[in-house]
Amino acid sequence: MIFYFSSTGNCRYVAQRIAESTGDKAVSMLDCLNRQELAFPDCEVLGIVSPTYAWGLPDIVDRFLQNVKINSRYTFFIATYGTTPGNTAYFAEKYLGRKIDARFSLRMPDNFTPWFDLSDPEQVAATNAAASERLKDYIRLIKGRETGSFMKRQAPDFTSIFHRAAYDWLRKTSNFRVKASCIGCGLCAEKCPNEAIALRDGRPVWVKEKCTMCLGCLHRCPKFAIRYGRSDKHGQYRHPGK
Ligand SMILES: Cc1cc2nc3c(=O)[nH]c(=O)nc-3n(C[C@H](O)[C@H](O)[C@H](O)COP(=O)(O)O)c2cc1C
Ligand code: SF4
Ligand code: SF4
Repeated sequence: MIFYFSSTGNCRYVAQRIAESTGDKAVSMLDCLNRQELAFPDCEVLGIVSPTYAWGLPDIVDRFLQNVKINSRYTFFIATYGTTPGNTAYFAEKYLGRKIDARFSLRMPDNFTPWFDLSDPEQVAATNAAASERLKDYIRLIKGRETGSFMKRQAPDFTSIFHRAAYDWLRKTSNFRVKASCIGCGLCAEKCPNEAIALRDGRPVWVKEKCTMCLGCLHRCPKFAIRYGRSDKHGQYRHPGK
């Protein structure tokens, strides 16, 4: 089984491509957590596909890995990332509580648009095309049950001590603001994986101090009305694949 967490579609695309090629199943970690389906006694392959958040994993992935009960004969991990996968493999092994046979990183468009610019569709398409090519190699390695680290641009393990503070700093919901263009459709609240948004008087209000900070609300809004930092000029993003 190939488990993924995805906000803007990069990891879902990766997990589904691998599942299609290997005859396996791609499963959402968030759905498993919400349904409390966390026991998978006998799996030939365990795949974990996660975005990089502040050089570590999203809190939802941490939680899934710490609670899942799974036996597998071959385990692989893929971190999608924009600039560096940081210490993601270190955290994946730590929370899973055992060694991962093969570790990969895949550069994709960086959806942290408070900092990174995804407003050029040609550049975004080129990054996705390069990722799609590299994924072919990774699928071949996974099918061959190769082991080892195929990660690029990793950070040394000792830097993992910075993840918690950096992530906590990024994930404060007070960073969000809502533009007048909001039409009160409620999509942001409906799809938030944390139930961190409520609609009050037809406007989104963040009801939790911290959230996963997946930025799904910002990227999905039909009016691009949610902003964070300099995201104004950096566009919205969703992976064009499935
Ligand atoms: C809160 C947050 C923090 C992020 N931190 C990093 C990071 O430390 N390094 C990096 O290369 N990309 C980082 N990213 C970018 C994502 O890891 C990347 O765009 C990923 O492919 C998104 O996957 P998804 O489309 O499946 O959600 C971050 C994104 C978010 C929303
Ligand atoms: S998705 Fe956008 S338009 Fe709809 S309620 Fe949320 S902020 Fe407003
Ligand atoms: S409030 Fe927005 S960024 Fe935070 S978890 Fe919900 S959808 Fe993701």
